[in-house]
Amino acid sequence: RPQSDLAGKRIVITAGGTREPLDPVRFLGNRSSGKQGVALAESAAARGATVILIAANLEVPAPTTVQLLLVSSALDLERAVTETAADADAVIMAAAVADYRPATVRADKIKKDDTGDSLVLELTRNPDILAGLAAGKKPGQVLIGFAAETETDPDLLLALGRAKLARKGCDFLVVNRVGWSEGFASDRNEVRVLDSAGDIVCEASGTKMSVAQRILDLIA
Ligand code: C5P
Repeated sequence: RPQSDLAGKRIVITAGGTREPLDPVRFLGNRSSGKQGVALAESAAARGATVILIAANLEVPAPTTVQLLLVSSALDLERAVTETAADADAVIMAAAVADYRPATVRADKIKKDDTGDSLVLELTRNPDILAGLAAGKKPGQVLIGFAAETETDPDLLLALGRAKLARKGCDFLVVNRVGWSEGFASDRNEVRVLDSAGDIVCEASGTKMSVAQRILDLIA
């Protein structure tokens, strides 16, 4: 593979997991470490791309070779993606974006003396950023989504991936299994990539860096 096969390309990559504020000190979050998105960003920059990394609460350091935009919530991430995706050749949505956020963010810390033995939280659906990008996609732009699922049955995992692909309208969907120890925090990953027809175009397992290279090969 030529070292500079992504030279002259602008690639927007989201990584990490969003935090949805509840009150000034609390949030709803997820266990995404950001490692796979960071590996993609580092590899894409090494292959010559101009990389804009939209980072949500990373547990690992961001590469120094990318333009870094720090975000926290899904709405922050949506704003940053919308501002940068317009002139991007590819957008890789590796971040774990919360599907719901608290319907109201309390100005003061929620106190258990006020709420008693149980507390019901009302949540509002977040916009689907990837589906929005797909709806407004410019010709030639490549959109890559991720589907992290907890199902152990590989066929079911694929079926879920294919349904998601149809819903999102992206060009490639990276399907991987996540659980208490796999996927999110791990240094390794095992993925299958579907194209827009739902066909498997790549199967990769290994370090997140090696999986990143395989995904970038598809984009290149
Ligand atoms: O629907 P689900 O959350 O499983 O889809 C995962 C893919 O969609 C990821 O690429 C994620 O970044 C993206 N996503 C999004 N906006 C959301 C939720 C997920 O763009 N609100």
